[in-house]
Amino acid sequence: MLQAIKYSEGRLEILDQLQLPFVEKYFHVRTAEDGWHAIKKMQVRGAPAIAIVAMLSLASELAALIVAGDIPAEAQEVQHIISDKLRYLVTSRPTAVNLSDAARKLETLVTGRAQQPGATGRGVATAFIREAEEMLGKDLEDNQQIGEHGAAWIMDHANKGSSTVAILTHCNTGSLATSGYGTALGVIRSLASKNVLRRAYCTETRPYNQGSRLTAFELVHDNIPATLVTDSMAAALLAGDAGVNAIVVGADRVAANGDTANKIGTYGLAVLAKHHGVKFLVAAPRTTIDLATKSGNDIIIEQRPGAEVTSIRGPREDFATSGALETIRIAAPGIDVWNPAFDITPAALIDGIITEVGVVEKGSDGQYHMDDLFGTR
Ligand code: MRU
Repeated sequence: MLQAIKYSEGRLEILDQLQLPFVEKYFHVRTAEDGWHAIKKMQVRGAPAIAIVAMLSLASELAALIVAGDIPAEAQEVQHIISDKLRYLVTSRPTAVNLSDAARKLETLVTGRAQQPGATGRGVATAFIREAEEMLGKDLEDNQQIGEHGAAWIMDHANKGSSTVAILTHCNTGSLATSGYGTALGVIRSLASKNVLRRAYCTETRPYNQGSRLTAFELVHDNIPATLVTDSMAAALLAGDAGVNAIVVGADRVAANGDTANKIGTYGLAVLAKHHGVKFLVAAPRTTIDLATKSGNDIIIEQRPGAEVTSIRGPREDFATSGALETIRIAAPGIDVWNPAFDITPAALIDGIITEVGVVEKGSDGQYHMDDLFGTR
């Protein structure tokens, strides 16, 4: 299985996604600062992967301090160091809630540990490291469950009487965006493993091309029958004879009312799905659901550099011998650029939200009640 994140005993390596699909190269992330830069530069991206890399980068830094005998003896001092670094890590990318959710949970854990009688700096650091390490395995299990629930729902509600289905997806939500398997792409993997997937369609996902560079790479890697389309072809695809049964996408933050922030272009696909009577599904672990955010209006949308729109990156002419990539400008010099990384899909356009504990649909009042998933209503 493709692995974006490799971690063992304080050593974190991540696959440099800026070089995919041309070069498969892992690099070593030693500190929280390294983790922050890797996330900011999008060497690792995808809501769950961002959270895991952030926490494991700090875990690696703490593990190295322990090995060197440099971890402060005082529990409170280590707790303050961890809290400061968590606050810093959260500033790397604002929209995906998984990162701030993980930081809040781990901060609560270390604060509790530091207050226990006889607590030591080493004990607090070790508790943080163990909890961060558990996130990797938990995320993989959640994704496999999401895949199962999503595949079952689609075969029950969207197969239109056929024994096979075709699915359109957007952005990259697979092994490269998570600890493995993926969310929306996990649903596609699950359908393929049951031999009921006729074809997956993936959008190019301009401007950053997560679809053509990363999702296409994963689909080819797994031998899943798949076709790449540009974002502007989606309407024609749904109107044509491809027989797309459902659009399945991931999420960066799902508000309490079901409004969903995801990769720019998701909202447009949801509108198209409604027009064509195609089911529109969001696949996300519960760590992506943010009950503190009441609706999509309260979600901060990250603005990215204009250069992502005006340029493309690919192999240099001498790639075969140099292995080098180059960036080429494709837009008219001097043009202004608007480059929001995400958009908000209103809950009304979403037919179901696939989580690791099942598929949530609107209640009899026509509204989503995401708090039901946590037993808090
Ligand atoms: O900007 P990115 O590549 O981090 O955006 C990724 C997405 O929008 C994904 O759909 C989302 O994070 C879910 S990944 C399982």
